[in-house]
Amino acid sequence: MRASVIANRDYVISEIDNRIYGAFLEHLGRAIYSGIYEPDHPTADKNGMRADVAELVRGLDVPMVRYPGGNFVSAYNWEDGIGPREQRPTRLDLAWHTSESNQVGIHEFADWCETVGTQMMLAVNLGSRGLEEARNFVEYVNGPTGSYWGDLRKKNGRADPWYVKMWCLGNEMDGPWQIGHKTADEYGRLASETAKALRAFDSSLELIACGSSHSNMPTYPEWERVVLEHTYETVDHISLHMYSSNYDKHTPGYLAHNVKLEAYISTVAATIDYVKAKKRSNRQVTIAFDEWNVWYHSRKQDRAILDGKHGWPHAPALLEDIYNFEDVLQVGCCLNTFIRKSDVVKLACIAQLVNVIAPIMTEPGGRSWKQTTYYPLYFASMFGRGRALNLVARCPSYEVELIGEIPYLDVAGVENEAEGTLTFFLVNRNGEEELDVELSLQGYRDARVLEHQVMTHDDLNAVNTAANPDNVAPRQGQGAVAEEDKLSVSLPPHSYQMVRVSVARG
Ligand code: AHR
Repeated sequence: MRASVIANRDYVISEIDNRIYGAFLEHLGRAIYSGIYEPDHPTADKNGMRADVAELVRGLDVPMVRYPGGNFVSAYNWEDGIGPREQRPTRLDLAWHTSESNQVGIHEFADWCETVGTQMMLAVNLGSRGLEEARNFVEYVNGPTGSYWGDLRKKNGRADPWYVKMWCLGNEMDGPWQIGHKTADEYGRLASETAKALRAFDSSLELIACGSSHSNMPTYPEWERVVLEHTYETVDHISLHMYSSNYDKHTPGYLAHNVKLEAYISTVAATIDYVKAKKRSNRQVTIAFDEWNVWYHSRKQDRAILDGKHGWPHAPALLEDIYNFEDVLQVGCCLNTFIRKSDVVKLACIAQLVNVIAPIMTEPGGRSWKQTTYYPLYFASMFGRGRALNLVARCPSYEVELIGEIPYLDVAGVENEAEGTLTFFLVNRNGEEELDVELSLQGYRDARVLEHQVMTHDDLNAVNTAANPDNVAPRQGQGAVAEEDKLSVSLPPHSYQMVRVSVARG
């Protein structure tokens, strides 16, 4: 099977905001406890943080990490996580039917972010709480000393404000499962008034209103219209969430997911434009896709804990999806979508980062390793920075019910002008046939292959484990040929590839 792709240096989608390679950590399951934090672990640093995990996180170069939830944030008291640790209360976490010891709070998380070299993106509780607590939390984090909250932060060990820019106004408020779930009008009013108060404190904050939890929510896309009509002048982004699954083990349908993802983003972008026009506004709200990933492998095993059959355990294994090779293709396609939609998606967070539907897994007291999905995220984060090119691809397709025609090739291209490189991320959705791809690099010359990485496996269900961490891993590709303004590459059936070429412009 053959495909052709045109990459023209003048056909540009957008400068990519590096924050599309962000991640998410929630007080959920073992994400925090025995994930990033485990004071008794042999690698623990002076703050009790696992150095082995920090190193794997650093390897991904995530620009920001969203925290502390998720559903958890909608009944969370941030004040429980400050002050002397021995005095912090243990609370029942209503979102996940567990106990929260509060041994990690904002100070510990901020220190950890510094260690791994990332920014904080924080969420306020607009579920069980409201404007007042949101304002207090923001002042505690960013306020000057000489004020009540700034002085309290200093007393707790941190004099300088953290100057956190990105703030989520609640989480998934459209979801009936959310503590303090609201209608779009109720939430829109609250988000707009909260944003007004936070802006009165600091007009430069980047504020994110909740959009839909999934494109199959009954309130989507009316939710976005109503929320934006309330908040258009006071927020910077509307957040979207979406997870993919393959319960019926139908790979062609599963790999069509990002076509739905792309349509979801386009619809919300159109809704933003509609509200902008209606309001005669000069502002441009964009999209923060602050939860996305594959989530289904662990759903069944989690039921008992979520139904309360185990009482209120502290940091039990929850949402521990073990990702397979098929999920590499899925995650690769989703990342391609974020690159192709980088004109409207300015932030995105893989959900989550450690143990909980995560690219990094740990054993309590033991090893840590990379899940299969670590790699496409790694390649995109490392080499998908620059300018997204508007590629024109021609390729045979297949049909998926309710979605439509799906091309066998999924491809995104990024130019890094400073480095003089073009990077292509390619997925062959066809499980039977190899795909020979000819790329024409218009406006470039002297193309030379710098790097070619391939992920393929004869078993779509192959996984990585602590004992066999390299079962699914990239290997050096062969056979990519670059010549003057052409690049050709062959994609084996069901494969993910990254090809980087150096080019001169001209
Ligand atoms: O990431 C897991 C959960 O998924 C989050 O807590 C919630 O926001 C979403 O439903």
